[in-house]
Amino acid sequence: MTDPEAIGDLLAAFRRDAAGVSSRPAYEALKGKYVNRDHGLVPALFARLKELSGPGKAEFGKRANEAKREIEAGLAVCEERVRAAEAAARAARDEIDVTLPGRPSPLGGLHPLTAVRRQIESVFVRLGFSIADGPELETDFFNFAALNFPPDHPARDTQDTLLVSADGPNGQPEYLLRTHTSPVQIRALTAHGAPIRVLCPGRVYRKDEVDATHSPVFHQIEGLVVDRGITMAHLKGTIEAFLQGLFGRDTKVRFTCSYFPFVEPGAQAAMTCFLCGGAGCRICKGSGWIEILGAGMVHPHVLRVCGVDPEVYSGFAFGTGVDRLAFLKYGVPDLRLFFENDLRFLRQFRSAG
Ligand code: PHE
Repeated sequence: MTDPEAIGDLLAAFRRDAAGVSSRPAYEALKGKYVNRDHGLVPALFARLKELSGPGKAEFGKRANEAKREIEAGLAVCEERVRAAEAAARAARDEIDVTLPGRPSPLGGLHPLTAVRRQIESVFVRLGFSIADGPELETDFFNFAALNFPPDHPARDTQDTLLVSADGPNGQPEYLLRTHTSPVQIRALTAHGAPIRVLCPGRVYRKDEVDATHSPVFHQIEGLVVDRGITMAHLKGTIEAFLQGLFGRDTKVRFTCSYFPFVEPGAQAAMTCFLCGGAGCRICKGSGWIEILGAGMVHPHVLRVCGVDPEVYSGFAFGTGVDRLAFLKYGVPDLRLFFENDLRFLRQFRSAG
């Protein structure tokens, strides 16, 4: 087989042989026939080349190398075809193909509301608070009566309550969706007594139309401290530590008078605007201050309802909205974005928290 024609014949034979290969044994036989070191047709070609001399040798060598490359490439194609056929057969038998690369599972992230809630919790855990939980379906007693809202108290109107059933004792609704996290302070104080330091995060409900800054479902965090000798100064120090922990060391806090039936005196706390530092901007509507939470000294009636003697103990409580804090902290333009679960929005917070 010294003439170039023979190489052409060899290639033609290889193409014919290769076309029919679809199983592993057929592929191995093809490989043996053409490239086996001892008896393969391609090595035989090169053995011939060694014996040649004269002007035909260079041409023969060139053709032989081309043929070798084509045969090797053809074998690779065959092997791939066999591998695919094997994988398809395995899949048809429902076997797991352990040779396939795994599907990457995308890493999730915290929802911005969860991230902010956890940041707040970590500030308070460092201050020695424990975290308490309570039911979202509440009774009038825990949501109102125990918090010093008598049945006909006008402050009930400010809560826009969603009633679940209206057949309770004295014509009062039996169950309602809690309008604030304050009932958890009643439950925690009643269960554990004084002294106590708890933080109560949770979902709350009010009859509200949905718009960019309102939602009928939102999240509050309530804090309660009861011990001997607790004063307004402790409340102010705690709120300062909280807001500085969340918005930075330079944040200043201001208290103004306010009213909630379950605290006396009651206060509204505002912080210096984290965007302009107090100079006045779009976020703080030019005032330099952002109202952020309700607070006050726990009303003696509330302590008594929970079995705590107001002559011995005093306490403070505060409540704030997690959604509003997250809204401000991340500069989110519309509250609804927190509830729609649009991944394009949520992905932006992947590393938050
Ligand atoms: N529960 C009050 C509200 O939702 C907030 C608050 C909590 C005020 C604790 C004072 C003390 O409006």
